[in-house]
Amino acid sequence: MFISYLSVLVTVVFGLIPSSNGKMDAAAEFRYADANSDGYISAAEFRTYMMDEGLTDDQINAKFAEIDTNRDGRINRTENAAIFQRWEEEYKQGLQEWFQSADTNRDGRLSLNEVLTRSLADGDTESDTTVVFNAVDTNTDRMLSKDEFMSYDWGDEEDE
Ligand SMILES: *[C@@H]1O[C@H](CO)[C@@H](O)[C@H](O)[C@H]1NC(C)=O
Repeated sequence: MFISYLSVLVTVVFGLIPSSNGKMDAAAEFRYADANSDGYISAAEFRTYMMDEGLTDDQINAKFAEIDTNRDGRINRTENAAIFQRWEEEYKQGLQEWFQSADTNRDGRLSLNEVLTRSLADGDTESDTTVVFNAVDTNTDRMLSKDEFMSYDWGDEEDE
């Protein structure tokens, strides 16, 4: 999962590298992407900004079109804030769906066995999964509550 699925989720949903604490800061990303500081992210600035994400030109253009909702050829702060909010919601929803599908006995929490069943099927190793499980299990009760699961900084997985 954990590792492969969620890092893919972070990359696909956000399509961007989370800032150092793993949280997306829409305003900071905007300032960074708006290289000439004119208050808009042009198509060229967006291409430069997305350069290291490993996306094709078509994917970058599609992403730009998705964000530029009024189709004026540039991204303003309102559009930028809106897309970050949507990505965050999709990210949370993806986590929730993962949690629910892994919780096979439906007790509202995940045991290591439940997590392993899912993550081994996804191609993760037992040792990697156990390390992540222990990191998410902040109160060390050997179960992952929904709170522990949702508040874990999954953005970090992308760097591993
Ligand atoms: C910013 O984008 C929003 C959504 O497309 C649009 O409604 C608004 O008019 C734009 N504002 C400026 C200043 O371009």
